Amino acid sequence: MSSRIGFPKDFLWGGALAANQVEGGYLEGGKGLTTVDLMPTGEERQAISKGYITSFTPREDLFYPSHEAIDFYHRFKEDIALFAEMGFKALRVSIAWARIFPSGEEEKPNEEGLKFYDELFDELLKYDIEPVVTLCHFDVPVALVEKYGSWKSREMVHLFERYAKTVLDRYKNKVKYWMTFNEINMLLHRPYLGAGIPLNDVEDKNQVLYQAAHHQLLASALAVKAGHEINPEFQIGCMLAAGMTYPYTSNPDDIWKAMDKDRESFFFIDVQSRGEYPGYAKRFFRDNNLDIKMEDGDLEILKEGTVDYIGFSYYSSRCTSTDPEVLKGAVSGNIFGSIKNPYTKASEWGWTIDPKGLRITANQLWDRYQKPLFIVENGLGAVDTPEEDGSINDDYRIDYLREHFKEMREVIEDGVELIGYTSWGPIDIVSASTGEMKKRYGYIYVDKDNEGNGTLDRKKKKSFYWYQNVIKSNGQDL
Ligand code: BG6
Repeated sequence: MSSRIGFPKDFLWGGALAANQVEGGYLEGGKGLTTVDLMPTGEERQAISKGYITSFTPREDLFYPSHEAIDFYHRFKEDIALFAEMGFKALRVSIAWARIFPSGEEEKPNEEGLKFYDELFDELLKYDIEPVVTLCHFDVPVALVEKYGSWKSREMVHLFERYAKTVLDRYKNKVKYWMTFNEINMLLHRPYLGAGIPLNDVEDKNQVLYQAAHHQLLASALAVKAGHEINPEFQIGCMLAAGMTYPYTSNPDDIWKAMDKDRESFFFIDVQSRGEYPGYAKRFFRDNNLDIKMEDGDLEILKEGTVDYIGFSYYSSRCTSTDPEVLKGAVSGNIFGSIKNPYTKASEWGWTIDPKGLRITANQLWDRYQKPLFIVENGLGAVDTPEEDGSINDDYRIDYLREHFKEMREVIEDGVELIGYTSWGPIDIVSASTGEMKKRYGYIYVDKDNEGNGTLDRKKKKSFYWYQNVIKSNGQDL
């Protein structure tokens, strides 16, 4: 009988959150307005997230879900106690940049903001939960968007470096695992949601976006460098919205297109992990007449600021074709376009469900980078309807997770170094793409609807007990 490796003893089981989707308290404690605070629910959200913004202050006629979110700002102790009850070893959170530097340019950081995260990390450490911290999960101080057009400008690089140094130093004895930018490749697909970039008057979108990408990559490398100097024990990762692109057929043209699509995303991680622009990116710049302005020393910074591990989200695989007829079958799926794969099912929101794709993607990333992998997001967004007695029997969520965990076990058997898994939204939170509350990922239900009504009370779902047992058995008992 062959013996199996199994999950490592110190595997980081847990959940993942983002400041702007949970905290609320959007102007409390001296916090400045951030980009996501200007993203309403409803039709306008899509255009805004693509960069066509309508105003730099919230409008009276729109509803902005981030302003209160699930009130984690005031309830984090209660929520962390529930995560501890599930046995979490890690909680991924992000720091809201605008809590620390409300306009991005203050001379001194905002002490009240810094204190909030001190308390948050202390609370986690009280339960031996490892904080895993993203420096920027989509939210940019609005003042920097107004003044500089966000990452369009090189000014952002040093403003971000200053912010990063401030928090890396402040929490150097509390936090070991860091990530620079959440889903850095989102910048190409939802420029405002992902990186605060307005595109209202832009003629050459690619020129603007790839220049902004250079600035972000530089800022990421500077943060990694600074982090390693502040505490050599730090593990600092990148974060990719992953999910392999499959060719629809074995037609070489389909294969090439699929590879090319994946490279749109790998482009970022190749720089963050290998420390240099890959040849295919330079060709893309040449072929498209892009003039990416770089200063002396930039390439050295990229080389010196490479990441320690590859963090990634996995919700879906993608599929592409060169056949115009086949291309008509487009589906939605975590922002990234895809055609319908006849071999996979989809969620209520049309996102492809492909557990095997997790194994494929993880192996692909491991083969490419040979660095530890950390699955920092995965999960099923679904409608939960409480039963008459108030219980929530989310068997569909358990099924989704179970199938993905089986593949995760295979990933480990394949010899991939996988250090952890934090499922997305362990407590129901605001959806990033739609702003809805009814798209729920949690093991813990939050009583709140799309319009903002509800008591905000928390309630354990069936999956709460199931995940608790998975963690307790270290992935044996699925
Ligand atoms: C990822 C983001 O893209 O997917 C999260 O990092 C987001 O912020 C998650 O919430 C799920 O997407 P959605 O749109 O269902 O919230």
